[in-house]
Amino acid sequence: MRLLFSTEEIKEKVDDLASQIRGDYQGKKPLLVGLLKGSFVFLADLVRALDQPLEVDFVRLSSYGHGTESSGRVRVLHGLKTPVRGRDVLVVEDIVDTGHTLSYFLESLARRRPASLRVCTLLDKPCRRCVPVTIHYRGFTVEDVFVVGYGIDWAEEFRYLPAIYALEKAECASKTSSP
Ligand code: PRP
Repeated sequence: MRLLFSTEEIKEKVDDLASQIRGDYQGKKPLLVGLLKGSFVFLADLVRALDQPLEVDFVRLSSYGHGTESSGRVRVLHGLKTPVRGRDVLVVEDIVDTGHTLSYFLESLARRRPASLRVCTLLDKPCRRCVPVTIHYRGFTVEDVFVVGYGIDWAEEFRYLPAIYALEKAECASKTSSP
């Protein structure tokens, strides 16, 4: 495993994103929607760094299954319960890869007529994009490596790591062949 971003670098980036968001949502009470499971650590740190009135809700979509490649088919495992009509909605992602997950979700949200709809992602992997998505708040741009830690998994492993690492190809292969 190779360290990509340390806990200190992540904290600095989260504080920076929070200050941008706070400036843009002054006097508003945004609804932050986290995409589970990967965003749970980032969202938890982001709302504390924001330290302003806001609401939080979650959805659970899945496009990966137990592998490193997006299937392109997005499944809704747990839909959004909070009404979004007229709300300032900020979607919070851990990583945008092919863009399938976010694109699907943004389309479904836009149909419900929010007052505004923006995206914040901690990680962006633009070299893998298949579907264009507009990202308003971006933490780090990453190369084409499989990342784990800070909420992000590989086959449900490694979400607990406090920093962000690149998983080497050999580690993915050995994990696939183990029970
Ligand atoms: C990951 C990640 C993003 C999505 C990005 O979620 O958390 O939501 O994939 O991939 P895409 O841009 O190619 O669609 P995953 O489906 O692995 O579920 P998880 O968050 O529960 O781990």
